[in-house]
Amino acid sequence: METNLTINGTKQRPDLDPRTTLLDALRHHLGLTGSKKGCDHGQCGACTVMVSQKNPVTNEVEHRSVNACLAPLCAMDGAHVLTVEGIVDPETKQPHPVQERIANFHGSQCGVCTPGIVMSMYTLLQNKPAPDLADIEDCFDGNLCRCTGYRPIIDAGKSFAVDKSKCPVPGAD
Ligand code: FES
Ligand code: FES
Repeated sequence: METNLTINGTKQRPDLDPRTTLLDALRHHLGLTGSKKGCDHGQCGACTVMVSQKNPVTNEVEHRSVNACLAPLCAMDGAHVLTVEGIVDPETKQPHPVQERIANFHGSQCGVCTPGIVMSMYTLLQNKPAPDLADIEDCFDGNLCRCTGYRPIIDAGKSFAVDKSKCPVPGAD
């Protein structure tokens, strides 16, 4: 059964079992391996992508960070899915500022968690372009990192906060 969705700006109609997870569709059928499979059970956040769908009540497009390993493909019908590959500038091929900050603050070591961390932060900025410190901490609720101790990830995130002066981050200015 085909599912109609858009992935990183390109319309796709993967002819897969609708129970296939979005993560398996991305990684094994569409060649998008940026989203990582850590636990495959919704516990680590390594597979986080941004899903944009129209709310049928308000008719507004809503952006959510979603664990792709838990999302059945059939639930993505009509959605726009953005993966970590899709936020690079299409013309310059430069990384998105979130990707740059994570790198500059040394927020990536083995890198397994990084695509999910980046997409959680990216989704927050889509929903709230001027986040505060609490928003930054909250947006990483579903993302585990076994390497960094979180400090450099949080510091990278806080460099976007409007109230970062309350909690100075070295190199954030
Ligand atoms: Fe761990 Fe999806 S792979 S939450
Ligand atoms: Fe290794 Fe986060 S950098 S899990």
